[in-house]
Amino acid sequence: MDRKEFLSLIGMSAGAFVLSRCLQGCSAAPGQAYPSPPTNVNFTLDLWLPTYSPLNSNGGYVYYDGIIVARVSPSTYIAVSQYCTHQGTSVVFQTTNNNEFYCSEKGATFSSSGLVITGPATVALQQYQTQLINTINGNSVRVYS
Ligand code: FES
Repeated sequence: MDRKEFLSLIGMSAGAFVLSRCLQGCSAAPGQAYPSPPTNVNFTLDLWLPTYSPLNSNGGYVYYDGIIVARVSPSTYIAVSQYCTHQGTSVVFQTTNNNEFYCSEKGATFSSSGLVITGPATVALQQYQTQLINTINGNSVRVYS
């Protein structure tokens, strides 16, 4: 393989990688600038796992499969779709602002139930149900629709 063939092969590989990442990561509906909210949701996060340990503190939050799950109080968890309905940036949870979800892209804010408080977003985040489950092995949070 000469240099030209090698560079061509590298270029095609890089192009294929970028294309596959775009196809995997973009689940927005046609004409929609953000990924569609997950449907048929039903998962459980084990709070003793280090990945989900932020949920052991008030104000802590994690992302899971396109959903942001946050702890408001020791017995209250909330969950909404992760991506801002303006252009798809991940929102963060802020206890300092009345437990709102905030988008750093252009400053959209959403209530704890996902309703739009401040634009430019005009569509609410999808809200999901949560349930704190106490087991002998530790607590877990179930998120479901
Ligand atoms: S993506 Fe959130 S305000 Fe633009």
